[in-house]
Amino acid sequence: MQKTSDIIWQDTQHQVLFTLIEQIKEVPFDPEILNRLKLYAEHHFILEETYMLELDYPHADAHLEAHNRFREELKAMMEIDPTMHESLQVSLSDFLYKWLKLHVLGIDKKLEDFVLKSSSK
Ligand SMILES: [Fe+2]
Ligand SMILES: [Fe+2]
Repeated sequence: MQKTSDIIWQDTQHQVLFTLIEQIKEVPFDPEILNRLKLYAEHHFILEETYMLELDYPHADAHLEAHNRFREELKAMMEIDPTMHESLQVSLSDFLYKWLKLHVLGIDKKLEDFVLKSSSK
């Protein structure tokens, strides 16, 4: 994935998330991958949410809502049979990839600008 942010921790974490999402496609399917993605996404979201809170970010509600949607999607996916078919792996992975790409190039960019203009990078 192209560079997503001038904030190093934010870009590094996004790259890890994209890599994990790509791994959902790997055959045979590793049922642990969704759990790893869940844990890493949680770690990343909490860090962004902490920045929003600390900096009194004005668009925090919409951003938090977006993170919560991703959390819910992932939770639903984790209830799927781990012996899932290859074509399902591809659709889940593509869905999450597109979602994350839109998120990091949209709503996260607004946060990035705000953090970069603040004193606590
Ligand atoms: Fe992010
Ligand atoms: Fe975000």
